[in-house]
Amino acid sequence: MAAVIGPIYTTSHGRPITTPTASQSIGARGPILLQDVHLIDLLAHFDRERIPERVVHAKGAGAFGEFVVTHDVTDITSADLFSEVGRKTPVAARFSTVGGEKGSADAARDPRGFAIKFYTEEGNWDMVGNNTPIFFIRDGVKFPTFIHTQKRNPVTNLKDATIFWDFLSSNQESIHQVMYLFSDRGTPTDYRHQNTYSGHTFKFTKADGSFKYVKLHFLSRQGCKDMTNEEAAEAATNPDHATEDLYNAIERGDYPSWDLKVQVMDPEDAESYRWNIFDVTKVWPHSDYPLRPVGTLTLNRNATNYFAEIEQLAFAPSHLIPGIEPTADPMLQARLFSYADSQRHRLGVNYQQIPVNRPLHPGAYWQRDGFMSVQGNYGAAPNYPSTIKPNTYKPVDANQTHELWSGQAVWNLQEVTDEDFVQARWFWEMLGKKGDGEGQKLQQNLVGNIASHLYSAKQDIRERCYAMFGRVEPDLGQRLRLATEERVQSAPAVDSH
Ligand code: HEM
Repeated sequence: MAAVIGPIYTTSHGRPITTPTASQSIGARGPILLQDVHLIDLLAHFDRERIPERVVHAKGAGAFGEFVVTHDVTDITSADLFSEVGRKTPVAARFSTVGGEKGSADAARDPRGFAIKFYTEEGNWDMVGNNTPIFFIRDGVKFPTFIHTQKRNPVTNLKDATIFWDFLSSNQESIHQVMYLFSDRGTPTDYRHQNTYSGHTFKFTKADGSFKYVKLHFLSRQGCKDMTNEEAAEAATNPDHATEDLYNAIERGDYPSWDLKVQVMDPEDAESYRWNIFDVTKVWPHSDYPLRPVGTLTLNRNATNYFAEIEQLAFAPSHLIPGIEPTADPMLQARLFSYADSQRHRLGVNYQQIPVNRPLHPGAYWQRDGFMSVQGNYGAAPNYPSTIKPNTYKPVDANQTHELWSGQAVWNLQEVTDEDFVQARWFWEMLGKKGDGEGQKLQQNLVGNIASHLYSAKQDIRERCYAMFGRVEPDLGQRLRLATEERVQSAPAVDSH
C-alpha cells in the first residue's frame, strides 16, 4: 500500500489509478490501448471542457459577499430582504465588459456590467445592471443587431468603426449613452471604482397591492475613477487588470462596497412626467427624484473555483421576488425572456440546480427531468397539482389597482425627437462645469475619444455623426469634425466596405 499523501486519484467513475501520468501501450514503443479507460476518460472530458461563452458580457470577474439593510424602506416594498434594518442577505456578483470575447481586455471602452444575485428567503433576486444609468436603445428588437455592430464584421472578422457608427447614427436615441461611453466614464479604472444602476424602472410593491416606481443605484464607496484613452491603452497591456485588482483587493481584506439608493416615483406622477419612465435612454434627474438610502453591499470572498462559481452564474432580470416587479419598459420585457433562454442554451435546462444558482428553498416540484437533473429531481414529491400530496401556495401576490392596460396592437415606433438630445446636452454641460480647467479637459477628452474611433469610419457615416453630435451642441459637432478630419489626414483608415 502506497503512503497516503493526499486524496486518492481515480477515474471519473471512481476507480483508483496507479499510474495516471502514463498511457497503456503494447510494449514500450507499441500502440496505445482502447482499454486504457483512464486515458479515454481524461481526453473525452477535456474535449468537452468549453461551454458557450455568454453572447454578450463574456469577459468578467466575480466575487461573493453580503447585503445589509441600513434604512427602513418597508413603507414602499414588502420584499423580505428589506424587512428590517440590519437584515443580512448573501450575494454573488459578477462584473463584465460587454462586446469583447472571453479573453478580451478589461480596459476596453465599453459599458461595464455589474450583476448581483441576492439569495433571499423568497427566491433569488438578480439585479442585472450596468455602470451607466441608461442604455443605447429602447426597443428589445434592436438588441441583437445593435450587438452585431459592436462586435466583429462578418467578412473581415474585425471590429469595424463603420458599422459601429452606422448603427448608432441611424438610431439616434443612443446619443445619451454614446456621450457617456466616449467620455472618460467609458473606461472606468477598475471594477471596484464604478457604480451600477438598474437602468430600467422597476416597481417596489406592497402586500396591499400598492406600488411605487423605482430606479436603483449602487454607488461605489471607493468612489468612481476613470481612465483617459492613453491610460486605458496602457492598462490594456494586461488584459486582466480589473480581474486581478478585484481578486487581490478581496484577498488582502480590502473589501469593496456599494451603497444601494433608490429613486422613488408615485404611479400618478408617471403619467405627467416629462419623460416616458419606460424609456431606458433617460434618467430621472436627482433634483426631481432624490436618492433614498436602503443598504450596503460588500464583497468579501473570492470564488474557490472560477468555472463552478462565476462562469456558471446565471443572472436574469426575470429572477424577481415578491415586493420587486418588472414594469412595461419594452427593453426590460425583452430581457425578461432573453437571459434564462440564453442560460438554457449555455448551461442546460437545469441551470437553476447548479449550486451557485440554486435558491435557498427550491420548490419547482412540477418541473422534472431534463439533462443533468442533479439535485435528486424532487424525489417522490408529486409532479402535478396533486390532491393526494398537496403543495402549499404561499400568498405573496396581490392584485394591483393602479395599472390597467388596454389598447390596440401597434408597432411601437418611437421616433427620435429633439427631446432625446436634452439629457445628452446636460451631460456635455455637466462635464464642462468641473472647476480648475478640469471641465475643458473632460470635454476635450470626449471629443478626442470619439475622433480616435470615428476617424476609421467611412466618410458619409462620419458626416452623419457630426450632424448627430451637432444636435447635442453645435460646438461639439464642429470640434468633433475638426479633430476627426485632422486624424483622417494624418492616418487614413483602410476602407473594407
Ligand atoms: C433587450 C435588451 C437586452 C437583451 C436582449 C440582453 C441580453 C443579454 C443576454 C442574452 C445575456 C447573457 C446571459 C447569460 O448567458 O448568462 C446578457 C448579459 C448581461 N446583460 Fe443584457 N441584454 C439586454 C440589455 C441589457 C441592459 C439594458 C443591461 C443593463 C442595464 C444589461 C446588462 C447585462 C449584464 C450585466 C449581463 C452580464 C450578466 C453576467 O455577469 O452574467 N443588458 N444580456
